[in-house]
Amino acid sequence: MPARVLILGGTGEARELARWLHDQPGIDIVSSLAGRVSTPRLPVGQVRLGGFGGTSGLAAYLQSEKIAAVVDATHPFAATISWHAAEATATAGVPLLMLRRPGWTAEPGDRWHRARDPGAAAELVEGLGKRIFLTIGRQGLSAFAHLSEHWFLARCVDPPSPPAPPALMVLLGRGPYTLAGELELMRQHAVDVLVTKDSGGELTKAKLTAARQLGLPVVVVARPPVPEVPRVPTVFAAASWTMTITGNYQWSAVWGGGGSRNSKPTP
Ligand SMILES: NC(=O)c1ccc[n+]([C@@H]2O[C@H](COP(=O)([O-])OP(=O)(O)OC[C@H]3O[C@@H](n4cnc5c(N)ncnc54)[C@H](OP(=O)(O)O)[C@@H]3O)[C@@H](O)[C@H]2O)c1
Repeated sequence: MPARVLILGGTGEARELARWLHDQPGIDIVSSLAGRVSTPRLPVGQVRLGGFGGTSGLAAYLQSEKIAAVVDATHPFAATISWHAAEATATAGVPLLMLRRPGWTAEPGDRWHRARDPGAAAELVEGLGKRIFLTIGRQGLSAFAHLSEHWFLARCVDPPSPPAPPALMVLLGRGPYTLAGELELMRQHAVDVLVTKDSGGELTKAKLTAARQLGLPVVVVARPPVPEVPRVPTVFAAASWTMTITGNYQWSAVWGGGGSRNSKPTP
C-alpha cells in the first residue's frame, strides 16, 4: 500500500511539491485547499476542498484517511491552519513538516518600515504618504477603513467586502508580476507608499524592486507566529523529507546526490 501524504496547500510551493510527488510509486498524495478563492489554481493529483472543522476535524481526517505524513505548505500568513496542523498531527501521532519560504530582506536603497500587523501598518502609513498601494489581501483592508484622507489602490485575488477605505480602487490579480508592470502601475496611480505582507518568494517580489527604484517607502507587515515544528525552506527539502518519512529512502538519497533516472530538477 502506498503511504498517503497530506499536503496543506494554497501556495505555489504546495503545487510544486504535489507535482514532484504525485507520480512516485510508494506515495499517494492528497492536496488540501481551503476553498477561499473563486478560481483556485489546482495542483496535480487528488485534491480536497474546504476546512476540516478545526483541530479535532483535522485529527479525525488524518485517522480516517490513514494519513502517514503531513506537509504544511500553506502561506506564511495562514497561521490558523498551521497551529491546527501542529495540534492535530500531535494528537493523531502523524509526522509533520512545515514548508515555508524565507521572508524578504531589505536591500540597499530600500526604505522599509516594519509593522507587526495590518493595524500597525495603517498607523504607519498615515505619516508616510497619501496614495497607498495595498498588497496585503482583501482580509487586511478593514484595518485601513478609517483612513478617509488617503487614496488606496488594493490588489487582491477576489473582490473585498466591507469594511474598506472610502477612497478605494480595487485591482484583481494574483501574479506573478514583472518589474516593468509594477513600475508602470505605481507611476500611473502616483503611488507614494507600498504596503505588503512579508510573504517572501519571487513571484510577487517585483513590487519591492519597483518601490526601491521609485524611492518609495514600504510598510512590511510581519508574519504571524507559527508553531515550533520541523521546518524547511525549499520544495526540494520537503520532497526529500516526504520520501524518507514514507520509507522511500533510496529516492531520497538519489535526489540528494543530484542525478539519476529518479532525480527531479532543482526548483
Ligand atoms: N493568508 C494569506 O495571505 C494567503 C495568501 C495566499 C494563499 N493563502 C492560502 O489560502 C488558504 C486560506 O488562508 P487563510 O489565511 O484564510 O488561512 P488560515 O487563517 O490559516 O485558516 C483559516 C481556516 O481555513 C481552513 N484552511 C486553511 N487552509 C486550509 C487548507 N490548506 N486546507 C483546508 N482547510 C484550510 C481551516 O479551516 P478549518 O478550521 O475548518 O479546518 C482554517 O482553520 C491557506 O490554505 C493558504 O495557504 C493564504
